Amino acid sequence: MGNDIRAVCVIGWPVEHSRSPLIHNFWIGQHALAGEYRREAVKPDDFPAFIRELAERGYSGANVTIPHKEAVIALSKSDDRVEAVGAANTLWFEGDTLCSTNTDVEGFLANLDQMTPNWDQGLDDAIVLGAGGASRAIVYGLLSRGVKTIRLANRTFARAEKMRERFGSRVKPVKWDEVGGLLAGAGLLVNTTSLGMKSQPVLDLRLEDLHQSAVVADIVYSPLITPLLQEAKDLGLRHADGLGMLLHQAVRGFSLWFGVTPEVTPELRAMVEEDLTKPKPE
Ligand code: ATR
Repeated sequence: MGNDIRAVCVIGWPVEHSRSPLIHNFWIGQHALAGEYRREAVKPDDFPAFIRELAERGYSGANVTIPHKEAVIALSKSDDRVEAVGAANTLWFEGDTLCSTNTDVEGFLANLDQMTPNWDQGLDDAIVLGAGGASRAIVYGLLSRGVKTIRLANRTFARAEKMRERFGSRVKPVKWDEVGGLLAGAGLLVNTTSLGMKSQPVLDLRLEDLHQSAVVADIVYSPLITPLLQEAKDLGLRHADGLGMLLHQAVRGFSLWFGVTPEVTPELRAMVEEDLTKPKPE
């Protein structure tokens, strides 16, 4: 391996499941760059030291995933978006300074822009399910795009109330079992919980009451078509899947590290889809 190879990694614990290497190495190949994107399994206790030694280890940048997205904030110069969302997923160097941002925000928005154009036109009322890190990134993104009201439902209601404290009165906490009654007035429904993911319970919600112009989005990408998206499809509703968000959130990191803005193309999507659907040796 030559010295001028630009190395980047995804740091997680565990990290085996991460599809980021697949995405970034596809773009590295496509642009014929001298780069490499690796996985680094790092335990929470070892994480601060790993980050401090990132450059010494030969890395020009990194993604961080579960469970490090919050811990990395104190270890880097975070931008306003990271402060607002309370989580970072992308690291790069400006000189010797390690900087962090959160690209889940634009990943979510860009995916909707691509899959369901004009989704935000006249969008007064959105429903967001869940109150974890992904929900914070999505709520921040929706507010930045001018959505007037976000009804935030979470199994643990206190966390929904925390979202209003964080983001202000455009976020309205609602009880988990009230969601069905709110569908008729919503222009967008987003699932940010793990419900519908392989080996997790299914989201128990029927969508018939949604308006025909409503958009349904899910952040779960395994399976690709969750039961929620399948129902949206069956009802003829426009929808955006979690894989699209995953692909779009990767764009800015790549451009920060390699100086080339890559594209989310059908070829890239097909390649990751194939990996997601192929049986894994357990
Ligand atoms: P992330 O940071 O990836 O968003 P998280 O902080 O663990 O992950 O949040 C997971 C979300 O899925 C939470 O909103 C969680 O609800 P609670 O706050 O009540 O835990 C939600 N979730 C997970 N399992 C659920 C279930 N079986 N029913 C309803 N909500 C569930």
